[in-house]
Amino acid sequence: MALGAAAGAVWGFLGLDAVGREALQRLLEVVDADRDVVVAGAEVVGVDPMVVGQLERGLVPRDSHEDVDCLVADWHPPPLLEAELLVEGDRAVDVADPVTGMQVLHGHGSKATAAESGHDASVSDALVRRYRAARRDPELAFLEGFHALKHALRFGAEVLEGVATDPAELERLSEGLAPDLAGSLSSRVTPVEAEVLVALVPQAPRTGVVAIARRPRVDVVQVLADQRPAPLVLLEDPRTMGNMGACVRVAAAADAAGVLTTGGNDPWHPDALRGGAGLHFALPVAAIAALPDADRPLVAIDPEGDDLRPGELPPRSILAFGTERYGLSGELLARADLRLGIPMRAGVSSLNLATSVAAVLFAQRLGPAPGAA
Ligand SMILES: C[S@@+](CC[C@H](N)C(=O)[O-])C[C@H]1O[C@@H](n2cnc3c(N)ncnc32)[C@H](O)[C@@H]1O
Repeated sequence: MALGAAAGAVWGFLGLDAVGREALQRLLEVVDADRDVVVAGAEVVGVDPMVVGQLERGLVPRDSHEDVDCLVADWHPPPLLEAELLVEGDRAVDVADPVTGMQVLHGHGSKATAAESGHDASVSDALVRRYRAARRDPELAFLEGFHALKHALRFGAEVLEGVATDPAELERLSEGLAPDLAGSLSSRVTPVEAEVLVALVPQAPRTGVVAIARRPRVDVVQVLADQRPAPLVLLEDPRTMGNMGACVRVAAAADAAGVLTTGGNDPWHPDALRGGAGLHFALPVAAIAALPDADRPLVAIDPEGDDLRPGELPPRSILAFGTERYGLSGELLARADLRLGIPMRAGVSSLNLATSVAAVLFAQRLGPAPGAA
């Protein structure tokens, strides 16, 4: 298949060298034997992991960054990075059991070896394969950056392994930002070269650390039965990973009872975890097929609802938020006991999903203004 002139124009933008171009061209040929357009979700068969590694290294944005403190909630990968998404897709690389060879890190002694630090190509390849497989493993959580690792550890995550380009810098960061973990982080990670790190993750975190943890099991029946007055957040078919993560982050901060999601997106996807800064471990977070019946009031949060008043949500409410473009479904609106809206200035149609979750949770948490009727 010829990729055509238009496809040729993207090489420079992607920053691929000649070998990378050739490799990407071969990859696209495998991916899409019938069309000129790369389609997300297409099956990639038998791609050489080394080719994949080369491509991904070439596709990492030059100014990789980590949005942990000022999340870009609606971040989407640029369309031209579709090939990278394919490589990160479901069946891109033939990998061994991702958990094989992992060691649970208890913080006793570094796992560093000269080989794992990037000098032995075959060991680096095994590391790359393991980390890429972990990103797709529904049993695992992929933690990118210092804050994600910090929160995960602080809230009891079972961290299986981690790598860092500069373990000493991790210690410096924890002294300033997480004194509770100071002295324990560098011993949990294996040092790796920067070029190995960028092969492990599509967007290398600025703090140079990534880790793999086991996802906690969430018992949804138990979450629904939680008798604390705390509200439970339900996101109906959220589409944006960054939004999901930001919702988890604010729900954790507001001490909500949990975050449940419907629809096809995994709230534990690495991009959602990045948006949540690792706070998925601070409260139950799970995908459900549909909202089961529960002895909790169901409150539809909808711009057309009656005005929300601070501190006046019924205890143990399920707060249902709609999908980014279309809002709540007719079905959930019909099931709801209440329909409440965040009052906005005239002319504004709606808030961003995560922003509205924040407004409702903190309106409840902060309570009515003193002396309010
Ligand atoms: C981006 S909005 C969806 C906009 C959609 N066009 C609509 O009108 O519902 C995503 C979700 O955020 C919540 N939301 C946004 N602004 C809101 C507001 N002013 N009052 C209540 N909920 C709001 C709702 O749950 C909504 O379904």
